Amino acid sequence: MNPYWQGFRCSLCGRQFPPHATEYVCPVDGGNLVAVYDYEQMAREVDPRWIVHCADRSIWRYAALLPYDGSAYSRPNTPLSNLGWSPLYRAYQLEERTGAYRVWLKDDTRLPSSSFKDRASAVVIAKALASNKQVICVASTGNAASALATLCAGTHLQAVIFVPQNTPEAKLASIAIHGARVFIVDGSYNDAVALARACCDEFGWYNRNTGFNPLTREGKKTASFEIAEQLARYEEKANSVSTVLFRAPDVMIVPVGDGNIISGLYKGFQELHALGWVMHVPRFVAATASRAPSLYRAWQRGSEVFETIPSTTIASGISVDRPCDGVMALRAVQESNGAVVEVEDEEMLDAMRVLAECTGVFVEPACAATVVALEKGISSGLIRSDDEVVLQLTGSGLKDVRSAMQAAPRPQVVSTVAEVASAMKLR
Ligand SMILES: Cc1ncc(COP(=O)(O)O)c(C=O)c1O
Ligand SMILES: [Zn+2]
Repeated sequence: MNPYWQGFRCSLCGRQFPPHATEYVCPVDGGNLVAVYDYEQMAREVDPRWIVHCADRSIWRYAALLPYDGSAYSRPNTPLSNLGWSPLYRAYQLEERTGAYRVWLKDDTRLPSSSFKDRASAVVIAKALASNKQVICVASTGNAASALATLCAGTHLQAVIFVPQNTPEAKLASIAIHGARVFIVDGSYNDAVALARACCDEFGWYNRNTGFNPLTREGKKTASFEIAEQLARYEEKANSVSTVLFRAPDVMIVPVGDGNIISGLYKGFQELHALGWVMHVPRFVAATASRAPSLYRAWQRGSEVFETIPSTTIASGISVDRPCDGVMALRAVQESNGAVVEVEDEEMLDAMRVLAECTGVFVEPACAATVVALEKGISSGLIRSDDEVVLQLTGSGLKDVRSAMQAAPRPQVVSTVAEVASAMKLR
């Protein structure tokens, strides 16, 4: 086990729990648990150059900062052992279009199941393998389930999945094809969360639910470590001198539903800062759907109490009635001096097309919300003219083809050269 990992702390009352604790949340107040490490000892003993020069490009290169190192899964060269190090692209055309100083895209559509959720599932699976679990269960809007099903394939673990009725077909297909047992719940995502939890209690299954199992946040923070390393490398290339090993952007823009991705990314940068490996923690901007307004309203009220408001957004990834990791998401935004920016469904569809046309990266509506938040942030002054910004892209457009067909121009049916000429105004 990681010698620096001290266990968990309740996000509400601060109670401490040892690493082997079986609770998912605080038994006293239901608060989400946060993994804690001894950063002082780690800073004394871990040389960041060991990480930066590590030949392993997977998330397991950050084992010193993870509760599990994946060694329970000893087979190399599989999706589970290799995932991570997704590309960080510079979005020149978005910069020109928006007037932003520097914009980067962290493209997690390129992970094994085509979404960011692989990071979380990998760490949860590492724990499940290390503790001899047989069944892992998750409620999901689609991507977390797809990630779990993909990464359980090839292990002895059985994945049991609960998804809401509005889950896009491609997400369902990508779950079922990997041999997971899938249940479509007659209700919303939050209903699926409740049913998954009840089944885990009843049958003793291991629960991977987002905003419930504290290990998901640990997997998600690895994207921040990669971003900081990649930014430092690009800087090094530009200046031809090696100055820093990790570098933080000024602003991170993240699509937010339950709030677990944003709280994981924030924790990642907080940890790098606590270790003295980055100079600052970025400001975190949460891009939410106007039609899933629970987090936005809580942020406006400045309250950690979240209303349950039925979501009607088409952006399945961020379609939640009430965020399961809302408290930690809100703190990420407030403590970092960031903001929550609401985005309309139509704006996300437009932005899907703009992002694909400008950058060659094809995302689902939830991630396209980050592009809209960038534009809105620049025009409101939230994002300044010298800010370096990273958009965290979390899921592939191929996972929601119906939205893509709505966002893209309709193909034309033709049968003659004359029709093509006329359509393209060539004659
Ligand atoms: C593509 C995509 N983006 C963003 C999110 C939001 O993550 P979170 O629910 O942790 O806020 C999800 C969650 O399912 C997702 O699938
Ligand atoms: Zn508590």
